[in-house]
Amino acid sequence: MKSYTIIDHQYDVVVVGAGGAGLRATLGMAAAGLKTACVTKVFPTRSHTVAAQGGISAALNNMKDGDHWRHHMYDTVKGSDWLGDQDAIEYMCRNAIPAVIELENMGVPFSRADSGKIYQRQFGGHTINEGKDGMAQRACAAADRTGHAILHTLYQQCIKHKSEFFIEHFALDLIFDDEGVCRGVTSYALEDGTLHRFSAQMVVLATGGYGRTFQSCTSAHTCTGDGAGMVLRAGHPLQDMEFIQFHPTGIYGAGCLISEGVRGEGGYLTNSEGERFMERYAPTAKDLASRDVVSRAITIEVNEGRGVGPNKDHAYLHIEHLDPKVVEERLPGIAESARIFAGVDVTKEPIPVVPTVHYNMGGIPTNMHGEVISGKGKDKEQVVPGLMSIGEAACISVHGANRLGTNSLLDLVVFGRAAALRAQEIITPGAAHKPLPKEESERGIARLDALLQKKGSLKTGEVRDMMQVNMQKYCSVFRTDKVLKEGIGKIEEAVDAYKDVALADKSLIWNSDLVEALELENLLQQSVAVMHSAQARTESRGAHARDDYPDRDDKKWLKHTLAWLSDEKKVKLDYRPVHMHTLTDEVDVVQPRKRVY
Ligand code: FUM
Repeated sequence: MKSYTIIDHQYDVVVVGAGGAGLRATLGMAAAGLKTACVTKVFPTRSHTVAAQGGISAALNNMKDGDHWRHHMYDTVKGSDWLGDQDAIEYMCRNAIPAVIELENMGVPFSRADSGKIYQRQFGGHTINEGKDGMAQRACAAADRTGHAILHTLYQQCIKHKSEFFIEHFALDLIFDDEGVCRGVTSYALEDGTLHRFSAQMVVLATGGYGRTFQSCTSAHTCTGDGAGMVLRAGHPLQDMEFIQFHPTGIYGAGCLISEGVRGEGGYLTNSEGERFMERYAPTAKDLASRDVVSRAITIEVNEGRGVGPNKDHAYLHIEHLDPKVVEERLPGIAESARIFAGVDVTKEPIPVVPTVHYNMGGIPTNMHGEVISGKGKDKEQVVPGLMSIGEAACISVHGANRLGTNSLLDLVVFGRAAALRAQEIITPGAAHKPLPKEESERGIARLDALLQKKGSLKTGEVRDMMQVNMQKYCSVFRTDKVLKEGIGKIEEAVDAYKDVALADKSLIWNSDLVEALELENLLQQSVAVMHSAQARTESRGAHARDDYPDRDDKKWLKHTLAWLSDEKKVKLDYRPVHMHTLTDEVDVVQPRKRVY
């Protein structure tokens, strides 16, 4: 191995990732007196949370009466197609109310209702009293830039609490000791090419989702599932990887997000016949059905020849009928995106939209305190000591087989806070650290070194294209055994092709070639886990729609998938029960039933 400048650090807690979850955890840990570092590959306010548009859900009743966290919980369980753990969902929905008030008190510039209270809009799948009393207005919004507003406020709070940041550091690998305790993490600092070894009592992975496994997604280029890659390489499983959310309204061609808030404000979809087709698929909720339902409806319209445009391959989203003042005040961001990326003036013409990968329900399995679980022990929920995960990187699981819009920003802040509370319970500030195991602590550095030395004929981008095109084609909105098996073969070819990748840039200063290759390794490992998990699940549930198994099969499949990578191409699968119990007796379990909107 070449010789590198390695800098050692000691912290009580190291949070990897500075999106909404990472920052909420960082500020909570620092405020509790734990010496906390946040290691992040982008400047904190450039994290992907900044792109969240429509809102954060909480049953505040600001716009009309009748909402309750119990209704929110019911909608979330139903939205998850009963795969969500009901105790964790109860925890999230009841804590939504104080979490949003806390954000307001921290200074998040929410839009205001006429009453002066936080403005709330409708969102897909959010109803009052199981839909009997209509749609809820539960999404607390800062125009259509809610994530931006929250992320900036959380970063300011972290600065106030004197958290330390290691910015533009790419996290390489976790460090485990012989007893299976996570003891730290290594990183590569892009600015000066130094390598860093962090010793910590607790590592918190808040590294976001793996949207970039796909060709067309609303996720930032940085959403490469780096934490989940580290977990797989450490021999631990990922959970429910087959559940990939397609957002119904990505801009046709560019893929960028047009918020569901648009339909929350009264927007609607049409096909080539000018028909408001959602009325056929979801007679009650219509355009505000949950995302998996709307994405499938658009795909069916296109497949049956009723798509719009020269290739009849997308749908139209209309807001021309809305008062331009509403667009200006509540939806300025999407008006700008539609103008730039689709050349459309939303006050005059419809926006061309198509379902686009948006969110990963699967990820690093955790309990509701953010502690990573290993798939071993009682109920397969044995905690991995020293390791937590939160945010889109994690699978708690509160979203099950399909996440409701606005429950992601909520998940970030509720479980970011929960992780900080748990860390306070189990960590002694300033406790002495044992020396790090030498070989283990250099595993990530050795991997980086091997990549820099490697000879080959392919560029990272060529293999990334292979992976993204094939994930899009073989693991899309509708799936079959035949297509998924073919997809497994294609992804294995991409894994083989990665062995032939060589870097043009061998330096260490701001080597984006190196970072992209490391990211691709993470993405490929997750693609393999997604494909195998999807092929094995022979039912349709939430976002996992199997043409060959069109029904949900609770008898066989009311369980979480756990996927270990046994070598670079082989996956070992196991399953663990869904929590069909609540946290308290203040609410009843939502029993499985047919899911209609
Ligand atoms: O449509 C949206 O504004 C996205 C929100 C979400 O994914 O929660």
